[in-house]
Amino acid sequence: MVDIHRGLADVAIDTSQVCHIDGERGELIYRGYDIRELADKASYEEVVYLLWNDDLPTTSQLADFRAELATSFMVPAAVFEGLELFSHATAPMHALRTAISHLGALDALADGVDDANVRRIGMRLVAQLPTVVAAYQRVRSGLEPVAPRPDLSVAGNFLYMLSGEVPTEAATRVMDVALVLHAEHGSNASTFVARAVASTLSDVYSSITAAIGSLKGPLHGGANEAVMKALEQMGEMAAVEPYVLGVLAKPGGRVMGFGHRVYRVLDPRAMVLKDVAEKLAAESGYSLYFEMSLEMERVMEREMSARGKQVRPNVDFFSASVYRMLGLPTDMYTPVFAVARISGWMAHLYEQYADNRLMRPRLVYVGPVGRKFQPVEAR
Ligand code: SDX
Repeated sequence: MVDIHRGLADVAIDTSQVCHIDGERGELIYRGYDIRELADKASYEEVVYLLWNDDLPTTSQLADFRAELATSFMVPAAVFEGLELFSHATAPMHALRTAISHLGALDALADGVDDANVRRIGMRLVAQLPTVVAAYQRVRSGLEPVAPRPDLSVAGNFLYMLSGEVPTEAATRVMDVALVLHAEHGSNASTFVARAVASTLSDVYSSITAAIGSLKGPLHGGANEAVMKALEQMGEMAAVEPYVLGVLAKPGGRVMGFGHRVYRVLDPRAMVLKDVAEKLAAESGYSLYFEMSLEMERVMEREMSARGKQVRPNVDFFSASVYRMLGLPTDMYTPVFAVARISGWMAHLYEQYADNRLMRPRLVYVGPVGRKFQPVEAR
């Protein structure tokens, strides 16, 4: 009899040198470095370099890496034209998924899965996802896309291409921290999907297009949008407790932004984002959604403890308040996750292509057997 691991829980699909999560202790490390220290001290570019190489870059390695990224920010005009074909109601995750597939269709060397070609595409995608996401936000608002500026960081450029104005250092730093925190997280659903597609030796664009589709779901990256929609639906502090109790009272009810397959204690990324959200709320004087988030956390803690369960906020919970205070529309939250996670997806594709084995799990058949075929007229 084959063991069934529903949801692939606790199944290790391979070894990896990219990231380690200790779900009991609430620890996350990227290639040996604690996420809290990276969020505090490193830029997103340093973290991407780290995820793609053995260690953090030296000054000259970082300068070269930034320069190479800057030459890749611009996307082909045809991709912008494709974005203009969507209805204004098309959600940004649909637009992003389609645009990445479009980029692949335009790349004559898309199919090469040797390390040099995969890394060439990785550099382009890290540089170009922010350009595509920002351009679509402009296009659907009836505005012209803003051309990227090679002198700005990935975080600064992204905010610049959204608004057309160079962001403050403080806003750039908040976005940088969000990108660092969301860059990588082991064998999460979308990374697994990317690796599974790559394991057939299909191309990088196909793997990333599939990963974006996976990230979009509300049980994964789509939860940050679901959190903000829930906060908007509640609208006021007094509505928080009845809302949470109402969700928990439904069979299979899940409060968005809470729980995790690996963490049994607080997700360390949620801890950092909570501090960022608190600081932004104090500075802006606009704190309702943050205060309501604290109340949701309090009610969940009480209710889950009463049920003997450890269900704490995850990365998607406080990121919603942070993005709100950065002025991003709700349906841009998951695309921002993708803008960060492309670096982690690529780090895993480098490993997968370098030492590949086709992923092909099994299903245990529980359907009928021994049926006798009847011609259609006799059924
Ligand atoms: C991300 O995997 C990654 O690394 C992902 C991620 C990354 O960086 O890539 O960290 C990003 O995807 C974060 C997760 C975002 N999703 C949500 O916030 C959606 C809400 N969360 C849940 O649906 C859930 O916690 C999951 C999907 C995150 C995890 O699902 P599991 O591991 O399959 O757990 P489960 O749903 O089976 O819950 C286990 C128990 C249940 O009790 P029992 O049925 O076993 O008695 O915990 C309870 C649940 O009742 N529970 C919740 C809950 N999450 C778990 N109860 C209420 N609300 C919740 N959110």
